[in-house]
Amino acid sequence: MKAAIISDIHSNLEALQAVIKDIKKRRIKRILCLGDLVGYGANPDECIELCMRETKIIVAGNHDWAAIGKTDISVFNPVAAEAIRWTQKNISKKNFNRLNKLELIETVDSILLVHASPQKPEQWDYLFTLDEFKRQFEFFKTQVCFVGHSHIPSVVFQEANGYTDFLRDNPFPLIDNRKYIINIGSVGQPRDLDPRASYAIYDGNNKSIDIIRLDYNIPLAQQKIIDAGLPEVLADRLLAGR
Ligand SMILES: [Fe+2]
Repeated sequence: MKAAIISDIHSNLEALQAVIKDIKKRRIKRILCLGDLVGYGANPDECIELCMRETKIIVAGNHDWAAIGKTDISVFNPVAAEAIRWTQKNISKKNFNRLNKLELIETVDSILLVHASPQKPEQWDYLFTLDEFKRQFEFFKTQVCFVGHSHIPSVVFQEANGYTDFLRDNPFPLIDNRKYIINIGSVGQPRDLDPRASYAIYDGNNKSIDIIRLDYNIPLAQQKIIDAGLPEVLADRLLAGR
């Protein structure tokens, strides 16, 4: 199987359109999505609809659950919570129901897809440090687990003897006796100081992964956020990539 994996779109239609166009240009037929379709940006309905049309599988993210009242937004920072309240007022009933149907975890062709962590997907734990990644390996049996959530692309591997480390290469081969947790970064709100949209290409035949970065129309996405009356800081951070 060859597939593109996308995550954390966050209602950023300009970034999503650019990523899907790039995937199609590469003739990749299958797109899998790790959730957070909404929250932060100005086009929730459009992003839900485009994702539903173009992707094979979508798992739920914490902002998707928050938008439909399944996750308590009192734990969100004030700006994220405000964006969720705005989203709740601005998505259609049909799209509300679509978000409500998303599963938390899916397996396809021996890869695991989950928004936050395989251990407890519903707790939305963040994986930043090596120890945080390391703890997760016993909770999945597939060779590869794709995650999103932190908006920071990162790859951690574990060897059969338990040795675990970050992998800095990109693209990189999947080595048979290693397991991998791969954070593919964010389409719509990157936070690694690189404002370009991020997604991954998984090539199961050639056993390789490539994390792609892509320019998109940031000024337009920013203007829409301001015009929608969403917090201006959400526009600023798109250009800052954090
Ligand atoms: Fe997110």
